[in-house]
Amino acid sequence: MTYLLSIMNQYSEMKPLLVRFVQEVKKITGCEAVGIRVLTEEGTIPYETYTGFKRDFCRRAGPLSIDSDRCSCSNVFREEYDRKLPCYTQEGSFYVNYMSRYLPGLSEAERKTCDFCDIFHYESVALIPIRVQDRVSGLIHLADRKEDRVPLDLVELIESIALHLGTAIQRVWILEDLKAAERNLEEKVREKTEQLQQRWQQLIQANKLSSLGVLAAGVAHEINNPNQIILANIDLLEEAWRGVSPFLDEYYEQNGDFLISGVNYSAFREELSANLARSLAAARRIDGIVGDLKEFSRKEPSRVESDIDINLVIQGGVTLMSNYIKTATGNFRLELSADIPPVRGSFQKLEQVLVNLLENACQALTSRKQGILVRSSLRQNQVEISVQDEGRGIAAVDLARLGDPFFTTKRDSGGTGLGLSVSSTIVREHGGRLEFSSQKGEGTTATLFLPLDDQLQQGEEY
Ligand SMILES: Nc1ncnc2c1ncn2[C@@H]1O[C@H](COP(=O)(O)OP(=O)(O)O)[C@@H](O)[C@H]1O
Ligand SMILES: [Mg+2]
Repeated sequence: MTYLLSIMNQYSEMKPLLVRFVQEVKKITGCEAVGIRVLTEEGTIPYETYTGFKRDFCRRAGPLSIDSDRCSCSNVFREEYDRKLPCYTQEGSFYVNYMSRYLPGLSEAERKTCDFCDIFHYESVALIPIRVQDRVSGLIHLADRKEDRVPLDLVELIESIALHLGTAIQRVWILEDLKAAERNLEEKVREKTEQLQQRWQQLIQANKLSSLGVLAAGVAHEINNPNQIILANIDLLEEAWRGVSPFLDEYYEQNGDFLISGVNYSAFREELSANLARSLAAARRIDGIVGDLKEFSRKEPSRVESDIDINLVIQGGVTLMSNYIKTATGNFRLELSADIPPVRGSFQKLEQVLVNLLENACQALTSRKQGILVRSSLRQNQVEISVQDEGRGIAAVDLARLGDPFFTTKRDSGGTGLGLSVSSTIVREHGGRLEFSSQKGEGTTATLFLPLDDQLQQGEEY
C-alpha cells in the first residue's frame, strides 16, 4: 500500500499513472479485471485504461454518458443512489459479490442498470469513486467472474487508495494546465519575437532606403550639373558644325580630301554628325536617370493636381513611347473604355508610370511578333489600367522585389531598377496600387488600380 502511494507521486502524466495504478490494484485485489473510467468535459465516462476484462467488454460498456445512460457506473458518477441499499458503501461505492443472485431481487428498471456486467457474467463487481476536489471525476472498476471477490473490507481499502489517486490526478491536471500555459506563453513569446524581428527588419529597410535617398539625391545633383553643361555644349557644337561644315565642304570640293585628327575629311564629316547624335542621346539618357534619382529621393509627396481623364494619360504615355513601341512590336493594341469617370491626380506623374510600364513591356519582348495590350476599365468602383505583354515574364522569386529601388535584371543593358520603385511611390501617393502577375516565358501583366475621384477626400494631399 505505501509502495502504491509512493508510485502515484512519481507520474506527471495521466496515462502512465493510471496504467501503473491499474496493474498494482489488480495485484492487491487479486481481481481478474480492473479498469478506470474518467469523466470527460462532454460528460462521458470512457475507460481511460483497463486490464483483464473480457474481449469487447470495455469497447461495448465504455462509451457511456452520465446524463443519458442509466447504469451503476453513471449512478456512482452522479452520486444518485439509495444509501440504504446494501450494495452501496458509506463512501458511495457500488459493490456486489453475486450478481446473478442479486439481479432478480431488483425491479425491472434497476436491473437494466447492470446490463453489461451481467451479460459478460461478472459475479463480483465493485465501482469505487475517485473524487477530485469533492467531485466524482473517475471510478475504479473491479470485476471477477467468481463470486465474493470484492468483500466490503477490500472495497474500503480501495476507497482509501482512491482518495490518494484523486490527489495524484489533481496534481497531474495542475501540471498539465501549467504545461499548457507554458506552451501558450512560449507561443506568444515566439509570435511577439517574430513581430519584433519583422518590425526591426522594416526599420532597417526604411533606414537603408532613406540613406539611399540622401545618396541618390547627392549623386543626382552632382551628375546633373556637368550633364547640363554637356547637353548645352552638344547643342553649341551642333550649331557650330552646321555653321562651319559648308566652308569645309567647299574646300573639299575644290581641293579633294584632307586630314582632320588623322582621319579623311569625307569620313570625318559622317562620323562627327553620328557622334554628336550619339552624345546627345547619351546625355539625354543621363538626364532621364537623374530625373528618376531625383524622383526616388523626393521627400515631399506630390500634390494631387486635378481631375484627369485617365485615357488621355494613357494616350500621352503611348505617344511619348511610340517610336520605342514600334521598334519592339508589330502587335500593339489599345483598348480604352469610354465610360471612365475622372480620377484625381497628377497627369504628368501618372504618365510617367505609364511610360515606365510600357518601357518594361517593350524591353521584355523577344520578337516583334509578341504583342502588347494596354487596357483601361472601370471595375468595382476603381479604375484599372493594365499593360499586358507576351514577353519573357518574371521569375517567381523576383516578383516580390520588383518595386525595390535599384532591383534590375537588365544591369548589362543599362537598367537602373528605378522605374517601378518610382512608379510604386507615385501610385501609392494617388491612393492606388500596382500589381504584377507573370508566367515565366509567357508574359507579364502589370495592373494599376486607382480610386475614383469621389473616394478621395477633397483637398487631400498625396
Ligand atoms: N513587363 C515585364 N516583363 C519582365 N520583367 C519585368 C517587366 N517589368 C518589370 N520587370 C522586371 O522588373 C525589374 C525592375 O524594373 P524597373 O524598376 O522598371 O527597372 P529596370 O527596367 O531599369 O530594370 C526589371 O529589371 C525586370 O526584371
Ligand atoms: Mg524599367
